[in-house]
Amino acid sequence: MSFNFTNPSKIFARLYAIFCPFYGRRFYRKLINALDLSGDEHILDFGSGVGTLGKKLIKLLRTEEGQLTCLDTSPAFLNRARRKLRNYGNVNFLLGNIQNLNIESNRFDIIISSWVLHHIRLKELDDILLEFNKCLKPKGRIFIIEYTKEPHGISEEKILLLFRNNGLKIVDKFSNKNTLLLEFKKVN
Ligand SMILES: C[S@@+](CC[C@H](N)C(=O)[O-])C[C@H]1O[C@@H](n2cnc3c(N)ncnc32)[C@H](O)[C@@H]1O
Repeated sequence: MSFNFTNPSKIFARLYAIFCPFYGRRFYRKLINALDLSGDEHILDFGSGVGTLGKKLIKLLRTEEGQLTCLDTSPAFLNRARRKLRNYGNVNFLLGNIQNLNIESNRFDIIISSWVLHHIRLKELDDILLEFNKCLKPKGRIFIIEYTKEPHGISEEKILLLFRNNGLKIVDKFSNKNTLLLEFKKVN
């Protein structure tokens, strides 16, 4: 079995589904509080993995307008998310690179990315941030949870520079040990 997040095996996806809720719970709690949802938002869970966070979000999207989109490049992870969220009608799933999916402009109120950016090369992150900016509504918000200890993680400085260069302004920050929760908004 390999610990490969970009192309995980079925068995790794299964184990990750068990381990993930414990590892992420503190930051998921912080994130849910910070989101302060009214229930009618359209949320993109970028790099949704096996749907652990998605399951928490969907329970908060209580109105008819509320929608969750889970996007991931891994079929094994996204299939797990599909199974976990199969009882909810207001979820859709996108498989592939966001740059190639032709997502319409101004579609999302909120974009969330938890423990994803450090798996992606900096050069590609620039293209991804362009897409975030395009498909986020004018007053939209982006929430990032990231592991920041290099070389495996991505440093706070790199994240802040990346977002600033792409017209996104930091509005809040919480950190604990080597993990960060950041909130950004679009600068129009
Ligand atoms: C460590 S997991 C985190 C999953 C989930 N966000 C969570 O909180 O558990 C990293 C996820 O990012 C996905 N991923 C990696 N590169 C990606 C990309 N370019 N676009 C979208 N998802 C990507 C992986 O397939 C994997 O599901």
